[in-house]
Amino acid sequence: MNLFEIIEKSVYDFGVSAPFGGYLPNQKNQGVRSRISTLAERPTDSAASNATSSGQWLGLALNAAQLGAFDFNPQTGNLVASETARRHFGFPSGNETSYTMLLDGVHPDDREKVTRLIEDAMQKGGSGRYTSEHRTVGIEDGLERWLSVAGRVFFDAGGRARQFIGVTQDITARKRLEDQFLQAQKLDGMGRLASGVAHDFNNLITVITGYAQMSIDDLPLENPVRESLIEISKAAARAASLTRQLLAFSRRQISTPKSFVLNDLVREFEKMLQRLIGEDIELALLLDPEAGLLYADPGQIEQVLLNLAVNARDAMPKGGRLYIETSTFLADQETARAHLLPAPGRYVLLSVSDTGTGMDEEVKARIFEPFYTTKETGKGTGLGLSTVYGIVKQSGGTISVYSEPGHGSTFKMFFPAAKTEYQERREVSPEIALAGYECILLVEDEASVRKYVREILTRNGYTALEACNGREALDMARQHQGPIHLLLTDVVMPEMGGVDLIAEFARLRREVPVLCMSGYSDRMWQTGELSGYIQKPFTPKALLVQLRAILNRAESGQVFLGGPANEVN
Ligand SMILES: Nc1ncnc2c1ncn2[C@@H]1O[C@H](COP(=O)(O)OP(=O)(O)OP(=O)(O)O)[C@@H](O)[C@H]1O
Ligand SMILES: [Mg+2]
Repeated sequence: MNLFEIIEKSVYDFGVSAPFGGYLPNQKNQGVRSRISTLAERPTDSAASNATSSGQWLGLALNAAQLGAFDFNPQTGNLVASETARRHFGFPSGNETSYTMLLDGVHPDDREKVTRLIEDAMQKGGSGRYTSEHRTVGIEDGLERWLSVAGRVFFDAGGRARQFIGVTQDITARKRLEDQFLQAQKLDGMGRLASGVAHDFNNLITVITGYAQMSIDDLPLENPVRESLIEISKAAARAASLTRQLLAFSRRQISTPKSFVLNDLVREFEKMLQRLIGEDIELALLLDPEAGLLYADPGQIEQVLLNLAVNARDAMPKGGRLYIETSTFLADQETARAHLLPAPGRYVLLSVSDTGTGMDEEVKARIFEPFYTTKETGKGTGLGLSTVYGIVKQSGGTISVYSEPGHGSTFKMFFPAAKTEYQERREVSPEIALAGYECILLVEDEASVRKYVREILTRNGYTALEACNGREALDMARQHQGPIHLLLTDVVMPEMGGVDLIAEFARLRREVPVLCMSGYSDRMWQTGELSGYIQKPFTPKALLVQLRAILNRAESGQVFLGGPANEVN
């Protein structure tokens, strides 16, 4: 019987029913420990054969840690491996073991590395230390694993490697988590880049759309230039939709979250989805009545379903099935970790599956990247799944994908379940008069945007005081003798940005409402401090509607600084 058979047999003999402490009477501790160290430092045949008690101890420890152990004699080529190690190495069932088999089980991409590491460790005069993390592939079942191996080589008097002994650990789950984490980090970086670009673009598009619209309004109907201006407007609107998607990806899209019943949303959206995917694709809803409430922006969740459905449709050119499934579950610590959920608790699961072409590993690894597409030019922008990713993250959820070529794809999204009751969203009344007389303090660093907004204001009867950053705005608020009815400010500005400005301004001029305009949102929009918010790019009308709504409310005493952001929509 070799060392590992002893270890495993002893584990087997002892079973796992007795409490752990029962195996090791205190008085024997010392003896066992010294024997283990002897075994580790100077392994000899006699140490091995005498190791019944230390074997038991070691066996239990290895078993508890789910570690495998091996012992290789480079001089005879004899390899001994515990059952666990055999499994880790990918050996077939049976008792046969050999060094060649060990190398056969190593993933082809890692074989060269592993061979080199073993040779280095066994090299004459070397440190004799061996550590590696590599993949193995089951020789019989083809199962892929990530393995961590730590070992030590012992040398004979002549300096030749005599024994290579070590332990193996299956680290597949950890590797998978690391991969997901790296992927999330990479996407985060891309998100920051994308939001920077989108921010600048929004300023430009605001100016383009705005002036085009104003010029269209100014020109008589028969003027041929109107046509050109309408085309400019349309192109700008398309550009605006692109930046919106980029902002969604970088989680800086304005979201208006509320609690709603996920199943209701899916049901209400069913007709629209069916029209979108066409008659050759059957849409099946599998809605768990227990799925419950979600706290997210319903418009964004529709966007998620839309993008996933379009992708599914594209993956099923000859028809197929699209499943939308909802359910709920309580994640314990372990499940939460395995699915990269932020915390244990109740989650709502939304899953979208198709019976389409599926994806290989290479595609799967990149699908959430913005602008990644396998579709021909003009067919896809590669922003669909980036948007989905951003929205799911913004809603506090996670997304994972399961897919294999020829076997369809499944996107699973986990959202934290909402506890609050159903809330209706308040809409702004459409019949609002747009013009006004009030004095607006306009703060915007981008000169072209400032000029554009000033024009909208003055054309509609307002007086505008202009400042190009927070500091200037405060000076102006101090010097200006008359009333200021509203502060209209950008958020990201040099010297003093919108957030600080609002705080300082509130001290100077209490009771004055604020309307923020920005290309992207940050957490503060959800937490309050503002009277209103408008996302760039905006049309003159959108700005005027918001402005009027806030001013009207201020007049009737409903707006106050420090009130919740979502009070005024
Ligand atoms: N359900 C699916 N089945 C197979 N492949 C998919 C599926 N969903 C996405 N993909 C792959 O992921 C890529 C990226 O998808 P994404 O939605 O981000 O962009 P797109 O569909 O190519 O373009 P866009 O959505 O911007 O029009 C697709 O080009 C496709 O290769
Ligand atoms: Mg798409």
